Amino acid sequence: MSMSASTAFTAAIVPAAGLGTRFLPTTKAVPKELLPVVDTPGIEYVAREAAEAGATRLIIVTSPGKDAVAQYFQPRPELEKTLEDRGKTELLAKVRRAPNLLAVETAIQEEALGLGHAVGCAEPNLRPEDEAVAVLLPDDLVLPTGVLARMAKVREEKGGTVLCAFDIPREEISAYGVFDVEDTEDGDVKKVNGMVEKPPADEAPSTFAAAGRYLLDRAIFDALKRITPGAGGELQLTDAIALLIAEGHPVHVVVHRGGRHDLGNPGGFLRAAVDFALEHPEYGPSLRAWLRDRVGSE
Ligand code: G1P
Repeated sequence: MSMSASTAFTAAIVPAAGLGTRFLPTTKAVPKELLPVVDTPGIEYVAREAAEAGATRLIIVTSPGKDAVAQYFQPRPELEKTLEDRGKTELLAKVRRAPNLLAVETAIQEEALGLGHAVGCAEPNLRPEDEAVAVLLPDDLVLPTGVLARMAKVREEKGGTVLCAFDIPREEISAYGVFDVEDTEDGDVKKVNGMVEKPPADEAPSTFAAAGRYLLDRAIFDALKRITPGAGGELQLTDAIALLIAEGHPVHVVVHRGGRHDLGNPGGFLRAAVDFALEHPEYGPSLRAWLRDRVGSE
């Protein structure tokens, strides 16, 4: 079967309505999604990943007062002209990068009622032909990129909903949505028989956790209307997926064996920034030397 309209996706949802409490006081004025990993906001990496996987529309779910996140994807003709006049071609290319990735639209989440609720807020943005939609959590950088394309292939073969899983140490598992899985003939693809949000470590059905990349069948929006508050008193995407599974909807995971950065807290964010900066031609070499010296002297 070739990639058809029924299995491919063109819309990607990025929930970005949170208060960014772990980055207060900075997030009083700057949305956490715009904090620079070296010189580029985390959300640009996530938008690029969605575009690479075939998305042409990015639906950013924001909250009142977080307009800057969507504005970041708008062209800045005057700035572009200034840079052009000054012959700053490299900077010009950087400034144009985000607006050229895909078409950005917004949905507003008025109240912070949970990830499931945030995703549900994007339903009015969908088009009749959107039979599946990708969701990318901007706190999670999944490296190397490409897992969404892999997930789309699995949906093409098996239908339903496909998620990305990481094998996480059991002592950290209670921070995640956790899968109850069954092996398939492909070692990296597992059938999901259940899913539970943030279970205590000794009750977790496995060590496979949801890692911020979802390819959801449109049926999710109906399930999202039928769930009640779960872990943390929030409307959880995990609970809507669990409901679909209970009703016989096929759900699989692709186990991603690469790396991951958690941009959702300052510690994880700094690791990502250092990791990316070490690879940067301009900043890498001197940062490496400085880090050696700084750490070596402890
Ligand atoms: C969310 C999801 C959780 C998932 C995690 C991945 O939790 O609810 O299922 O495993 O993202 O980062 P949060 O980190 O927002 O608490």
